[in-house]
Amino acid sequence: MNKAVILAGGQGKRMNADIPKPLFTVLGEPMLEWVISACENAGISDICVVKGYQAEMLEEYLGGRYTTVLQAERLGTGHAVMQAIPFLEEGLGDDPDGNTLVLCGDAPFIDPDTISESLMLHKQNGNAVTVITADLPNPKGYGRILRTSGGGISGIVEQKDATEEQRAIREVNSGTYWFRTADLIGLLGKITDNNVQKEYYLTDTIAIAISEGKTAGAFKSENADIIRGANNRRDLFELNEYARREVINKHLDNGVEFVCMDGIIIDRSVEIGQGTQILPGTILRHGTSIGKNCVIGPNTTIDGCVVGNSVEMNTAQAYDSVIEDNVVIGPYVHIRPESRVKKGARIGDFVEIKNSVIGEDTAAAHLIYIGDSDVGRKVNVGAGTVTVNFNGIAKSRCEIGDYSFIGSNTSLIAPVRLGKGVYTAAGTTVTRDLPDYALAIDRGELKVKEGYTLRKLNTKK
Ligand code: UD1
Ligand code: CA
Repeated sequence: MNKAVILAGGQGKRMNADIPKPLFTVLGEPMLEWVISACENAGISDICVVKGYQAEMLEEYLGGRYTTVLQAERLGTGHAVMQAIPFLEEGLGDDPDGNTLVLCGDAPFIDPDTISESLMLHKQNGNAVTVITADLPNPKGYGRILRTSGGGISGIVEQKDATEEQRAIREVNSGTYWFRTADLIGLLGKITDNNVQKEYYLTDTIAIAISEGKTAGAFKSENADIIRGANNRRDLFELNEYARREVINKHLDNGVEFVCMDGIIIDRSVEIGQGTQILPGTILRHGTSIGKNCVIGPNTTIDGCVVGNSVEMNTAQAYDSVIEDNVVIGPYVHIRPESRVKKGARIGDFVEIKNSVIGEDTAAAHLIYIGDSDVGRKVNVGAGTVTVNFNGIAKSRCEIGDYSFIGSNTSLIAPVRLGKGVYTAAGTTVTRDLPDYALAIDRGELKVKEGYTLRKLNTKK
């Protein structure tokens, strides 16, 4: 079984932050998660994450999903892998030719195909180590690949240790390598910190392997983007921008319409149906799926929602909810978690829905709060209606039956249940259950004092 070790111990000093660098996000997901999912999608789930700086944060994020080891002091990438030796040794007796992939937690775009193809080359050539490389127009900051006259590799030299001549080399180390696990353990024992940075470089394993008569090779990726990493916030910004464009391009290819890309951020897990139009300022997060022929945006955030076909959402926020076909939402609507807006409903403007079901073809069109409620079908909820779901201590539910007509400025004091076909007069405060087809009207006698204004003005004179 193949293993992976992900290096995530570094602080990322140049990020100017107090969280571990691999937890910085690209399109809403930590870079570490991108690396983990590339491993998983390449069929590697025996993963060890090396933690160091702010290790607790990393542990908390992983929530026990994978093995972690602590690198108490950051003495370099080689030193980081040394901490994982017990993990590497596990099961080695049964699988003496097993291989381990080592990756950096700050280079999110490594992809499953590159991982699998490089493993094939690694095995075919019987390599002790195979490094994944690419040519970069601007290789500054990366380790450079040293080639022999025959085209093989002889080692890797870090930017800081490189001569002028070596710095001109454009082929760089991605920071991802396949090692024959048994060889890796042996090689780790031989690296030293004899270099400009006084660090134990993992990259030194290559020259050492060759000096021992083992074979080392390189797998050169055609696509240099897969090796892009983030050492500072500018890099991180570039990674986000790159990923953002890639995702939008994928949706364009699938028949989604974008007039422009301004302010549009779509997480890579989001699905969008053909013929849907995404307008500026739309942010689609975590696991959202959107059906066909919708118009989403402008200025709309949808997070963790399932949205049906032919839905319109304008200037809305929706979280962890279901929005069925042909619903029209907005402008200025907030759909809070655990809500379901059924087919053909119309919500907005200035409406908040929380933990509620809105029935088919129901309209809640202006200035309304519906919380912890079940609203039936073809209900008309008048402007200014409020479900009074919280008494300061506990939350309770309201129920409104099908075909009801809730007059403007009705307050429903929960818990309360309205049957079907119920009317409430404008301004009514409903404090008890109403049977089917009832009218509730709660009004003091209207007093009219004629000539009041004139009298008031006269006394003042
Ligand atoms: C490293 C490589 C370089 C390569 C580049 C690709 C070495 C010596 N250099 O350089 O050849 O081109 O990656 O991005 O390996 N880390 C630890 N513990 C440490 C040091 C680092 O866990 O003590 C982790 C970091 O969190 C990071 C990864 O290892 O995820 C790479 O470390 P970083 O300091 O960014 O290495 P580079 O200088 O970029
Ligand atoms: Ca780096």
